[in-house]
Amino acid sequence: MSLLNSDVADLLTEHLKAGTTEMSPTDLRVPIAHFVSEERAAKERELMARLPVIIGHGSEIAERGSFVTREVLGIPLLVVRKSDGTVGGYLNICRHRGGRVADAPCGKQRYFTCHYHGWSYSREDGGLRGVPYDDFYTHVDKDRHGLHTIRVEERHGFLFADLSGRQDWDIDDWLGPEVDAQLAPFGLDGAEIFLDRSFTLDINWKIVLDGAIDVLHPKFLHPTGVGKLIETNTSVWRQYGRHGQSFSPRTRMGDAARAGEPTDASFRYMGSNLFLYPNSMVISTPDHVEFWTVWPDTGTAGRSTTQIRFLVRPEKRDERIERRIMRSWEILEEAAVQEDWPMELTIQQNAEAHPHGTFLYGRNEQSCQHLHRELAADLGD
Ligand code: FES
Ligand SMILES: [Fe+2]
Repeated sequence: MSLLNSDVADLLTEHLKAGTTEMSPTDLRVPIAHFVSEERAAKERELMARLPVIIGHGSEIAERGSFVTREVLGIPLLVVRKSDGTVGGYLNICRHRGGRVADAPCGKQRYFTCHYHGWSYSREDGGLRGVPYDDFYTHVDKDRHGLHTIRVEERHGFLFADLSGRQDWDIDDWLGPEVDAQLAPFGLDGAEIFLDRSFTLDINWKIVLDGAIDVLHPKFLHPTGVGKLIETNTSVWRQYGRHGQSFSPRTRMGDAARAGEPTDASFRYMGSNLFLYPNSMVISTPDHVEFWTVWPDTGTAGRSTTQIRFLVRPEKRDERIERRIMRSWEILEEAAVQEDWPMELTIQQNAEAHPHGTFLYGRNEQSCQHLHRELAADLGD
């Protein structure tokens, strides 16, 4: 199996031969205060609520009539698969006096009944269906007391939500044809969640994301692990509108290129990291797709929750593949828990101790530059 990008494979090969890399025209400096400031953190959370963010995967509500509840950026959500197979999203907030209408993390039901005073709502449109003792109220207009709806769009299996309830973004415009083309071959709309882990860390979300998309550090921070497998000084970045993808050659590609042997865009020779602005990334492998989302904490700039999910097409699963995927998880977890996150924790502590000056993103660190440039554009700084 290959990535689509044979042109990128050729480019990487040329760079490896010459000992060069693709670079953006300039460095980027980002104020260290942006990683510790509560004011900045509040602006970023507010921004995320306006952007299409990925709140889950369609396979979590595969069956018609099923639902999940979850809190995203502090907002309580109820996400359902309707009878017609489309996805509906609601605020999990009763319109009587604010109870949760669904308490279970997941399940299957037609109506959601608040346990405080028994108001019930339809799965299909969030409409208020039942009000016990309704003659105790002067008048409850049922049409105006349905659950607040949250628009959710499903693409490539990912559930994109407008948490603000007010935006009119178009998800196809937002993703664009290049992201579509990169994701389509992996058939993620038919994939299932093989593994789902969350880690709450005392680290600003951007530092965690920087570490996850950074192409420059593996040789230094993971010298005996992934650093031995990929070339540190060569990468290629492709910007796809608000998103982008970095491609890194494996050392095997470096060896072949330098020996004048042929290379190609197969996973044998290269890997990629597709960054979906603002806070997700997708790494494809021959067996599975690794999908990260990093959420800022609702209380403090210095904390975030990273959710890592492995998506697998069910027909690909067998014992051998499952063992291989678990092995790949162990390698990832070891690198993240023992190397990446301790480094990032120190960075956060250092930023809090001395929140002055700037962090520097070099010309070859295009994925990290992209994240910070997009944020700066959205937040007007
Ligand atoms: S708060 Fe839900 S029925 Fe009263
Ligand atoms: Fe790392």
